[in-house]
Amino acid sequence: MLRGEVLGPLLAGIDLGRELLEFGPGPGAATGWLCQRVDRLVAIELDHDAAARLTAEYEGGNVEVVVGDCARTPFADDSFDTVATFTMLHHLPTLATQYATLAEALRVLRPGGLLVGSDSLASTELHAFHVDDTYNPIDPARLLIVLQALGFERITLSVDRDLRFRARKSDVDQHNHVTRPPQGDSGARPSLDRSQRDGTRPHLSGDGVPPTSGPSHVDRAVLPRCHRDTQAT
Ligand SMILES: C[S@@+](CC[C@H](N)C(=O)[O-])C[C@H]1O[C@@H](n2cnc3c(N)ncnc32)[C@H](O)[C@@H]1O
Repeated sequence: MLRGEVLGPLLAGIDLGRELLEFGPGPGAATGWLCQRVDRLVAIELDHDAAARLTAEYEGGNVEVVVGDCARTPFADDSFDTVATFTMLHHLPTLATQYATLAEALRVLRPGGLLVGSDSLASTELHAFHVDDTYNPIDPARLLIVLQALGFERITLSVDRDLRFRARKSDVDQHNHVTRPPQGDSGARPSLDRSQRDGTRPHLSGDGVPPTSGPSHVDRAVLPRCHRDTQAT
């Protein structure tokens, strides 16, 4: 279902680059599909047992599994071409952790890099399914606001039976110079100074998430420069 109905259509014709980071792979429903399309896939998974099973399954291959929290990863700035998160955001307990996770995706993406994901929409059935588990489906409008507020560009969201999205990290640095194409060589890349970039982010409310009432409440003066066009990503 995930591979045929979600990954195929969502990523048709899209180059994932060489290195992909997957948030919350669980049993690896997306991992096996994604790893065939990149040179290296790193999966960060909170659950030790799930991570151990995935490690065993992909031993000797191009998948590396790391136990950790996708909101606070050990990876350097600008180190992946793609960050993927499938059916995972609703497992994050608060808006603040969802925001932190999307901010982390932006941090580790290379300039021009792709964020791609899908998630379940809120429903009675999904709620019942998570009776002893975290149930915090992200509101699609909130996701759009957060992605915009963080500075993602070329954002595409579709809401139907589920929520699907793609967005790009800017390939323009803080001085508005084009840095590099989305994918390519492994040589030295210009990177943004973290504190400098943090300073460009919108102010957060007390719970660590951006203002909730819509993009008009974001202080645009502190947003990174970006063009929000309608190009397909
Ligand atoms: C519903 S599973 C999704 C698995 C897979 N991505 C899929 O689509 O089938 C959610 C996974 O996210 C993991 N997870 C939850 N919170 C996480 C976090 N903060 N960091 C990394 N992984 C997390 C869970 O342990 C679980 O394996």
